[in-house]
Amino acid sequence: MRIGILGSGRMGGKLGTLFARVGHDVVFSYARSEQKLKRLARNAGKTARAGTPREAARDADAVLLAVHWSRVEDVLKQAGDLSGKIIATCSLPMNADDTELVVAHDISGAEALAKMARRAKVVAAFGTVPSEVLFSVFEAKRRATRPSLVYCGDDRDAKDAVAGLIRDVGFDPVDAGPLRIARHTEPFTLLIAQLAYEGDRGPELAYRFEWRAR
Ligand SMILES: NC(=O)c1ccc[n+]([C@@H]2O[C@H](COP(=O)([O-])OP(=O)(O)OC[C@H]3O[C@@H](n4cnc5c(N)ncnc54)[C@H](OP(=O)(O)O)[C@@H]3O)[C@@H](O)[C@H]2O)c1
Repeated sequence: MRIGILGSGRMGGKLGTLFARVGHDVVFSYARSEQKLKRLARNAGKTARAGTPREAARDADAVLLAVHWSRVEDVLKQAGDLSGKIIATCSLPMNADDTELVVAHDISGAEALAKMARRAKVVAAFGTVPSEVLFSVFEAKRRATRPSLVYCGDDRDAKDAVAGLIRDVGFDPVDAGPLRIARHTEPFTLLIAQLAYEGDRGPELAYRFEWRAR
């Protein structure tokens, strides 16, 4: 797949690197330093390059939205027309100091995003785990038991494509249903963040759902 990374920080930088490692064409964009984007691309391998958000979006089948909520409008404006494209979003609708959701209960950040990018196919994914765990999940891909990763969205084909990316990174994708389920997955992430960053066992945390046979 051709994947544009909109926001090349902790999440975008790592996920873009892992997508490139399994052979996807990746364009890293939207960091404050072009040098950083170039370095990320160099380290990610020959299928990765650096570009502007517009370049990242132009030929992409999917973009990964990985910016702070306060930057979403700006990066979408810079990316240009996303009609028909998949937006996999890990961006949570957090306030400036990342302590509270600013969109919640009767709408989610992912649904608000879908209203901003009306003709794109939004899938909420990757936002429920800390960036610190991504490489170790990738490295453990061959183990029999993988951690879960919930995702949701309203477009079947877009969801299938994103489920493939989730598998590529080393998780077991769990389809949580339509995009409105992001109203539950987004606050769930605050629990994960509490355990990862306020607990005493460190941020390399993943989760696994088990359906027990009767
Ligand atoms: N970090 C996590 O573990 C985690 C987990 C789940 C969900 N999330 C969500 O994922 C999203 C991304 O989080 P993150 O931790 O990856 O954020 P981050 O590390 O701060 O990365 C954000 C990216 O946006 C860029 N950026 C910020 N302001 C910019 C500006 N004015 N112009 C150009 N580029 C700008 C940053 O540039 P620089 O590279 O120059 O800083 C960086 O590349 C957030 O919505 C967050 O809530 C994060």
